[in-house]
Amino acid sequence: MVSGKILLVDDDRNFIDLVKIRLESASYKVTAALQEEEAIEAIKEQTFDVSLVDLQLIHQDGISLMERLHAILPEMPVIIVTAYGTIGSAVEAMKRGAYSYITKPFNPPDLLLQIEKALENRRLTSEIKRLKGLLKEKYEFSNIVAKSEKMQRVLEVVSRIAQTDSTVYIHGESGTGKELIAKAVHVASERRDKPFVAINCAALPENLLESELFGHEKGAFTGAIRSKRGLFTQGHEGTIFLDEIGDMPLSIQAKLLRVLQERQFYPVGSERSVEVDIRVIVATQRDLEDQVKQGLFREDLFYRIHVVPILLPPLRERKEDIPPLARYFLKKFSGEMKKEVKGFTPKAIQKLMLHEWPGNVRELENTIEYAVAMAQKDVLTEDLILKTTLSISQGSVKPLREARDEFEKEYLIRLLELCEGNVTNASKLAGKHRVDFYDLLKKHGLKTEDFRES
Ligand SMILES: Nc1ncnc2c1ncn2[C@@H]1O[C@H](COP(=O)(O)OP(=O)(O)OP(=O)(O)O)[C@@H](O)[C@H]1O
Ligand SMILES: [Mg+2]
Repeated sequence: MVSGKILLVDDDRNFIDLVKIRLESASYKVTAALQEEEAIEAIKEQTFDVSLVDLQLIHQDGISLMERLHAILPEMPVIIVTAYGTIGSAVEAMKRGAYSYITKPFNPPDLLLQIEKALENRRLTSEIKRLKGLLKEKYEFSNIVAKSEKMQRVLEVVSRIAQTDSTVYIHGESGTGKELIAKAVHVASERRDKPFVAINCAALPENLLESELFGHEKGAFTGAIRSKRGLFTQGHEGTIFLDEIGDMPLSIQAKLLRVLQERQFYPVGSERSVEVDIRVIVATQRDLEDQVKQGLFREDLFYRIHVVPILLPPLRERKEDIPPLARYFLKKFSGEMKKEVKGFTPKAIQKLMLHEWPGNVRELENTIEYAVAMAQKDVLTEDLILKTTLSISQGSVKPLREARDEFEKEYLIRLLELCEGNVTNASKLAGKHRVDFYDLLKKHGLKTEDFRES
């Protein structure tokens, strides 16, 4: 078994032969280079675990070569080999990134020890890097509850496209988490340390929106007493979130299209164009395709922004998310209000599951906030949760089969939630055989593991 791959750079052939034999007998795989360029070629073709570089090479000093090697393979430890009496340079080498140095002539066990240490160091560095990556991944989505398969898929798309600069198009009813997902894309991307700027395109009249987005020159219009940087400039190298893009006036749509095509724009009243490097995320509650048909939204812009579409399903279509979301908000608000509220009564959960949530997650969040504020015991009871229950109003009457299916699904979800995913208990309560019960779950696309506490 090979214990590591070593790149050996020295212009002294005898020395190379000697060290090579030593290292190979200790099961290292050695590639030797007599010249700098040979070393560079080798490292471009394969990776090495450690490199031994002579300080005094023919064309270049060892330190510069080390820096060139590090530029290609930054994590590879380099041990500098120096002649006796050049300690000063060795120290300089360490300052510039060498892992350690060894003086010629040396005894072989010393060399092997140094190499072993460098390898261990390298293993630790990559392990730390891996752990940091894991931590970041976890941290990035730790504020998003996504138990349902539909939301899991959304997060999958987010992690897949975060690293790209593609425009993201988030579509979803109000309160489904559009802004939350937009921020998640930003945080999961390389742009995370740069600004995230957001604007609601429906909130401002046309002229103000234009100068908010693109900035203006001093004197560009009455009241413009000094020039102003727009959001596209402020968000340079970061991400801009354009909420309610469907409400953007046509004139500004034209300007946005130009930014997307050419990565530049003109501030209001300015002759000079500004270049930007920015990732654009847009969100809409409305069906933009409809707006396009009505001539209210530019078709070319629609296709430009519709690169990575993400559909956020309404909460009523992912009821499995309700209990974990409710618990998440309970924890959040009981912490904030310093109240010891620990959970929900089963009836309270039932009530949450039966509600249709027209205002989606935001409505659920507000409901729990209210309930925690009002709570006088350490559990939330159903009387604190919503005064409304499922009602049949005229106009929303569905065919019996559809209503029955809906009821059946809701019933199963409620049951699984109560039994925390335990099919034996759930099927008993339902008065069904396990096999039939499984069939029912399959029919509604429900998975027991989604209901188990992790
Ligand atoms: N999956 C989730 N996990 C945790 N919190 C969520 C989730 N989805 C939404 N929220 C929270 O619900 C609230 C509403 O979310 P957000 O503002 O992102 O929705 P929105 O779609 O932009 O709403 P609106 O259309 O009203 O602007 C926020 O406080 C957000 O943190
Ligand atoms: Mg929003």
